[in-house]
Order: sequence, then structure tokens, then C-alpha cells
Amino acid sequence: MALEFQQVTYTYPGGAGERRIGLDALDLVLQEGRFIAVLGASGSGKSTLLQHFNGILLPTGGQLLILDYTLTPGMSGKGMKELRRRVGLAFQFPEQQLFAETVEEDLLYGPRNFGMKPEDARIAAHKAAKALGLGEELLGRNPFHLSGGQMRKTAIATVLAADPDVLVLDEPAATLDQASREELLTLLADLCRQEGKTVILVTHRLEEVLPYAEEYVLMDQGKAVFHGSPRELLETDGLMERAGIVAPPAVRFLRSFSERFGTSLPDGPYRADELARFIRDVIRKEPPACPIA
Ligand SMILES: Nc1ncnc2c1ncn2[C@@H]1O[C@H](COP(=O)(O)OP(=O)(O)OP(=O)(O)O)[C@@H](O)[C@H]1O
Ligand SMILES: [Mg+2]
Repeated sequence: MALEFQQVTYTYPGGAGERRIGLDALDLVLQEGRFIAVLGASGSGKSTLLQHFNGILLPTGGQLLILDYTLTPGMSGKGMKELRRRVGLAFQFPEQQLFAETVEEDLLYGPRNFGMKPEDARIAAHKAAKALGLGEELLGRNPFHLSGGQMRKTAIATVLAADPDVLVLDEPAATLDQASREELLTLLADLCRQEGKTVILVTHRLEEVLPYAEEYVLMDQGKAVFHGSPRELLETDGLMERAGIVAPPAVRFLRSFSERFGTSLPDGPYRADELARFIRDVIRKEPPACPIA
């Protein structure tokens, strides 16, 4: 089933002259079961976009088709519980997500609210905590007294605990250390490939999602100015630059390499070992005209 934005506009409320455009007649069609990264400069509309997937924000113009739901301007939020169970959203700032006295209560909230039996909810909560590397000793702690990274992991675990079909995560790896970042992205990729979950993730670090993302959406001024494959993202001249994104060193290297050897890049996701094999094969086939001394 598709997740479809049709001419979706979202204008934030505000005083005269202060209303801000979050989304501007945005068209976008995503398929379920994919790992999709959303890129874009600050203020381009990424968080506004993500909050539409489970109806936290409703469009002020246009409409969205999400799973079996049609979301339209001004509709009632009643009856959206099932949508929120199936589409889990991790906010950009974990403080927006957490509210309970203990980590465990926060983790239990989703599963209980969505109708799991107490024992099943407890199992789901502990499984999610474990998947995020949150030790049992943290479960009794106040989530607001945790470190930034632990709080972030708790917020993501609250989403995983409810076992949604679509995981929508706003900069989930921000404030995590490098090992935790890689563990989190591997976990999300496994959920996508092994359990068929859809992962839609905002990041400012293209390099960290290169090994995982199957599709990219690029936001600029409230519009999706690009939606396509990893290869298209990397090979389309000036695309990222026009949207105010600086291509990371790994991407600049791949572009130079493909130009230098006149070869097209493989399609992603770009795992380091696969890229190394690709580079080796190109060099073997076409040794540089002027060998490096
Ligand atoms: N609560 C709000 N009230 C008014 N305008 C807002 C509000 N939240 C966001 N905006 C505006 O909407 C636009 C899109 O903001 P959004 O938060 O979606 O950007 P973003 O791409 O997530 O940025 P970042 O990378 O900094 O998180 C910006 O112009 C922003 O100023
Ligand atoms: Mg944001």
C-alpha cells in the first residue's frame, strides 16, 4: 500500500503576517516496506512532513492517503488510534515524546494503549529496551534524568515497543555515539528487510544512511524536490547543492571516481565492502591511462 501526499500544504498558525509555510503543495508517493531517508536543509519542512504520517499534524490544504486512511484539512482526530498504532513517530526532540515517571512506564504506554495484555506489553517493552541497548537498570529511572543519548534511545524504544508497521523517525541518531548510531541503523534496516517494516528517517548526515537507504527524498522550501534512488541522488548534478546540502566526502569521492573512469555508479544502498568491490572491478577492467606512480 502506498503512502501518498497529494498537493499537501501545511501552514503553521500564527498572527497576521507570521503564518509560516511548513509544506507547500507537496506531492510524494512512497511504497511500504522500504528504507527511505529524508534529507534537506534546516527549515526545509522535514519535521513538518514527518508529523503528517500519523496525523499529528493535519494538512491545511490537499490530502494524504496513509494505509487505509485519508487525511484531510480540519478532519476530526477521533478514530486515529489505529493509524497511530500502525505508524509510529519518533519526534525530533525526545522531550516531546516522553512524559512518564519511569522509563518502563513510558515504554508500556504504547503497547497498553493499543490494547496489548499487560504481560505481552511488558515483554514488548523489555524487548524494545533491549533492542536499543537500554539496560534493565535504567527501566526504573526518570527518563528526564537520563543522558541525552539514553533519552533518545528511550524515545525510539517507545515507538518500537508498540510494533508499528511504519516507523517514522526524526533524526533518531542525533546525540548518539558512533557505535550506538550504527547499531540503531542496523536494527532499523533489519526491521525493514526481515520484518517488512517501512522506515522513513530524517537525517542531516547522508553518510550515515548511505549503507542502508534504498530511496531518498530531498526537501526544499516545503516541497519534495527529489524522490528517487541512491544512484540518482548522487549522480544528478547540483541536486543536493541547490537544496542547500553539502555532499559529504564519501559522496564527493564516488562522484570523482565515476567521472574519472567514465562509469556509472552502482545503485545503493552503498555498503563499504560492496563499494570496495565495485571500485576494484572498475580499476581492473580499465586501469588508469596514467598509472599512479
Ligand atoms: N511551531 C511552528 N510555528 C511556526 N512555524 C514553524 C513551526 N515549526 C516549524 N515552523 C516553520 O516551518 C518551516 C519548516 O520547519 P521544519 O521544522 O519542518 O523544518 P526541518 O526541515 O525539520 O528543519 P530542521 O532540520 O532544523 O529540523 C520552517 O520555516 C519553520 O520556521
Ligand atoms: Mg526538523
